[in-house]
Amino acid sequence: MPIYGTRPEAIKMAPIVAALKEAEHFECVVTVTGQHRGMLDQVNDLFGIVPDFDLNILQQRQTLSSIMTKTIDGLDGLFERSKPDAVIVQGDTTTSTAAAIAAFYHGIPVVHVEAGLRSGDLFSPFPEEANRKITSQIASLHLAPTTTSRDNLLAENVSKTSIVVTGNTVIDALLETVKKQVPFTDPQLEALAQTGRKILLVTTHRRENQGEAMRGVGRAIARIADAEPDLVVVLPVHKNPAVREAVLPALEGRSNIVVTEPLAYGEFTRLLSLAHIVLTDSGGVQEEAPSLGKPVLVMRDNTERPEAVGAGTVKLIGTDEERIVVEVDRLLNDADSFNAMANAVNPYGDGLAASRSVAAIGQLLGVGSRTPEFVEH
Ligand code: UD1
Ligand code: UDP
Repeated sequence: MPIYGTRPEAIKMAPIVAALKEAEHFECVVTVTGQHRGMLDQVNDLFGIVPDFDLNILQQRQTLSSIMTKTIDGLDGLFERSKPDAVIVQGDTTTSTAAAIAAFYHGIPVVHVEAGLRSGDLFSPFPEEANRKITSQIASLHLAPTTTSRDNLLAENVSKTSIVVTGNTVIDALLETVKKQVPFTDPQLEALAQTGRKILLVTTHRRENQGEAMRGVGRAIARIADAEPDLVVVLPVHKNPAVREAVLPALEGRSNIVVTEPLAYGEFTRLLSLAHIVLTDSGGVQEEAPSLGKPVLVMRDNTERPEAVGAGTVKLIGTDEERIVVEVDRLLNDADSFNAMANAVNPYGDGLAASRSVAAIGQLLGVGSRTPEFVEH
């Protein structure tokens, strides 16, 4: 039983759902919490996934406690009725940790996809660093995307035999989706794609950046757009009202800033492939953009995804308004700086993470054997 609730979990779980449905020996029963409603359904629709169970927990301006309690409560009854042999959770959202705890209470083995990421700071990202550490304590099988994440788990005394390095399933999803180069439903974006103008793609949503830091991000974007009239800034803005209230006011009245609703994953990957520079605080985008050779400026002070920083395609720049303006300006106007970061690297996967994951789950449940681990080049 894969259980997920938000956009990034859905994107990263979709390849596993597809692989489970094809594999012998499994009945795949998909459960969603609905922590994200619209943004989750967008992904399920794209990948043709119709959930078997839906807890539908979303509330506007929901609290962490309400996500946690409603998920555990909803799964309690569901587990009693459906008795899954294993539960699969992904990453570090509150849906994933709540589902892991609920399964643990029922004695159901927990498979953790994207296990072992660590920023080293319990409060950043908040609450995700704590969420993933909690899940690591109770999971039976840890599917680590990279050797770095495996080593983080080993350093916390997780048993070596319960860890498999799979690569990240986001690369499976990306490689399958980006090659389709789907048309944009927003005519502004389709027109932009035809002009060939340079695009600065921005996404922001991190809870710890909301408020003044995110207002500063809005001011920085406005200054960049004013200074670079040939550039077009595209911001598919997260559904969270707290994000919209912080970032949008500074952006009004500029013809070279395009604000859109969250884009369906197919459209977002096309936009990513067209972008010149990416400015983000997203986890998933940090993994995808390097694979397409896009320089990524990350608006955080630390990251649990150091691999692409090491490879030189990702730079941590924090959320200071002035720093954001300076760093984007450098990439736009200094060819050496741009070229140094614009290299396609794939430290996070090779597109085979889902099949390795399903093989490892088969071994856990006594109906199969593992396949060779992902090797980073
Ligand atoms: C959540 C995850 C975060 C992940 C992010 C991906 C937690 C604690 N946070 O954060 O780890 O990086 O998703 O985007 O699990 N909303 C809607 N419709 C939607 C989605 C959100 O209306 O489809 C609005 C609601 O008002 C909701 C708010 O956004 O209360 C915040 O959503 P929530 O899931 O609580 O937090 P995120 O910041 O999205
Ligand atoms: N994404 C999308 N549409 C958008 C913005 C992002 O499909 O308008 C995808 C993106 O490609 C990535 C994922 O959403 O796979 C990242 O989600 P988000 O930034 O919300 O969460 P995080 O990865 O930070 O947890």
